[in-house]
Amino acid sequence: MGRKNTDKIVFHQIPVLDAGAKGVSVAKAPDGKVIFIPNVVPGDVVDVQTFKKRKAYYEGKAVKFHEFSEHRIEPICEHFGACGGCKWQNMKYSQQLYYKQNEVKNHLQRIGKVELPEFETILGSEKQFFYRNKMEFSFSNSRWLTEKEIESTEDLGNRNALGFHIPKMWDKILDINKCHLQEDPSNAIRNEIRAFANEHNLTFFNPREHSGLLRTFMIRTASTGEIMVLIQFFEEDKNNRELILDHLHEKFPQITSLQYVVNSKQNDTIYDQNVKLYKGRDYILEEMEGLKFSINAKSFYQTNSDQAFELYKITRDFAGLSGDETVYDLYTGTGTIAQFVAKKAKKVIGVESVPEAILDAKANAERNNITNCEFFVGDMKVVFNEAFITQHGKPDVIITDPPRDGMHKDVIEQILKIAPKKVVYVSCNSATQARDLALMDEKYKVTRVRPVDMFPQTHHVENVVLLELR
Ligand SMILES: C[S@@+](CC[C@H](N)C(=O)[O-])C[C@H]1O[C@@H](n2cnc3c(N)ncnc32)[C@H](O)[C@@H]1O
Repeated sequence: MGRKNTDKIVFHQIPVLDAGAKGVSVAKAPDGKVIFIPNVVPGDVVDVQTFKKRKAYYEGKAVKFHEFSEHRIEPICEHFGACGGCKWQNMKYSQQLYYKQNEVKNHLQRIGKVELPEFETILGSEKQFFYRNKMEFSFSNSRWLTEKEIESTEDLGNRNALGFHIPKMWDKILDINKCHLQEDPSNAIRNEIRAFANEHNLTFFNPREHSGLLRTFMIRTASTGEIMVLIQFFEEDKNNRELILDHLHEKFPQITSLQYVVNSKQNDTIYDQNVKLYKGRDYILEEMEGLKFSINAKSFYQTNSDQAFELYKITRDFAGLSGDETVYDLYTGTGTIAQFVAKKAKKVIGVESVPEAILDAKANAERNNITNCEFFVGDMKVVFNEAFITQHGKPDVIITDPPRDGMHKDVIEQILKIAPKKVVYVSCNSATQARDLALMDEKYKVTRVRPVDMFPQTHHVENVVLLELR
């Protein structure tokens, strides 16, 4: 063990043991402490140089490989490594699924500490690439340079980029040539925008000085073939704005919805901005099992449409509806789950805090001729109270799909108070789900568990749990 200073130590011949949180792998140092190492695969044997030392763990990077894991696979993307998007692209898909299922199991056992049934096998995604229906890219005039480029003596030209943020570097953008997450014409449209902007000297955003014309670009594709493109400009420049939007309209007539925002604020979120329609209509349509869902620029829609269908089928199956039940769909978003289960229920009540999402939910239900769903806006812990439940009827089944933080404890208390026969808990964070299951353990037994992979090549995993009244 060669010591450089207290933070930089090299450990030799370290076997990588496990795939840990956030896509970073785990090994053990000779002193027994955990080492977190990115860009390695369990089964690799490496020399690790640490760059951070904490009481309980080190963070390090692999500086030499002695053995390569049998679970490795050659990443197909030219941007792998620099791009933070698909950290697990160097691991076989079967192995990715194994680690995802394992993470859910660990959380439910260690944090939840509740009695668990045998897990149903994680449902893998048929599409392992090109599965996302929404991507967002940033413009920057300070492109991330590779080591090769830095060493090169050639003139690198302008530093304009259209791509993704380098992890933990807010002002550096990796220029993306081909992303394997969204089907075409996603790559073609992005690359055309960059080429056209460069050709016509349109300025790319300068994140340090806060200047430049082009700020972000969002593209949504749908199973119906419809496409939405939204360009965010930093400043109003009518001529150049129309120049690029007209060009896109001509070059890609298949764009269903072409929109833009002029946003000179500090941050680039569009949620508080006035989104303007340039060509086409201001929404695209997604379709699932004959149901149509309209999606506007600000709508939330599950980003892997095919796998969302599978997730919803599992949710509906866990709910085991006969047609007589009153169902509550908590955290309903645009009411997709509510509408998906509606034909198997007497009535469905959806609750959600974002008013625009509820407007979408109501419009979609009308479009789909669904008359037994009602939607309400509000913060769950406030809305989901005694009076609300008296007014809309006690639920026989609750479906809940909260954000990453899980459910507020007041919401859990309310569920325990009214004690529906079944609760189907869909979660994108099995750690908070496990915490919530523990709080519900006094009245509910976990009877089914099935993880679902919505995001191949990443460590993210969705999990569906059925709770039944004891
Ligand atoms: C994981 S999404 C679920 C979306 C929906 N079930 C679907 O499949 O499309 C969680 C939803 O909870 C909503 N939400 C977050 N905090 C909330 C709160 N305190 N009260 C009500 N809804 C909330 C979010 O706006 C988001 O739509």
